[in-house]
Amino acid sequence: MKTMKKTLTALALTSVMPTAALAWPWSTDMMNQPSIKPQEGTPYPFPERSVPVTGEPTQVASREEAEGLKNPVPADEASIKTGRTLYKIYCAACHGLTGQADSPVALKIGAISLVDEYVQETLSEGWLWGTITFGSAIMPAYGKPGEQGGSNDLTPVERWHVVNYIKHALVKDAEEAAARAQQAAATVNQN
Ligand code: HEC
Repeated sequence: MKTMKKTLTALALTSVMPTAALAWPWSTDMMNQPSIKPQEGTPYPFPERSVPVTGEPTQVASREEAEGLKNPVPADEASIKTGRTLYKIYCAACHGLTGQADSPVALKIGAISLVDEYVQETLSEGWLWGTITFGSAIMPAYGKPGEQGGSNDLTPVERWHVVNYIKHALVKDAEEAAARAQQAAATVNQN
């Protein structure tokens, strides 16, 4: 009987322990260090040129508004080179490495060819930039988090680099890739 009473007391103690323990002075020992706590003192200013994690803000509100925008980035060699790299990272998965909807998923999701007259001639550079920024019917956004399930992976200027690549070098790259493929096939046939 005596042992049982002891056990009960011990049980009762354990159930109140956690709350009581928090109030004891040594329970905050680990926290009370000389380090600076969150929100303590004057916050450090952000480093110069830092951008919010939501990315650089886009100045227009929709693809329709973007349609008439003038491309501020000259389509020089450097811009096209950056655009090509970004294209391979962000667009090729759906539109294909050569932009001809030559990716395994293109047909399944309806990703169109970007080397055809529609994109090369009909759509304006502003519209292309707006499509990358805000997404399209199915295509996700790359300049607006939350839009079309999209992200803010590309800065406004990076999006213009991609536009420069599509309008000024994608077709040429596609033709060169086709020529290389033809040559390779011819070599194989010879052997
Ligand atoms: C997840 C797949 C996917 C990715 C990645 C993707 N697209 Fe698309 N894109 C589509 C689909 C599907 C369509 C056709 C349906 C639509 O308009 O949404 C399309 C349509 C387009 C159009 C035509 C828009 C119009 O008005 O008809 C352009 C231009 C375009 N994409 C460019 C790009 C560029 C540039 C990138 C890379 C930054 C990219 N896409 C990345 C799926 C994708």
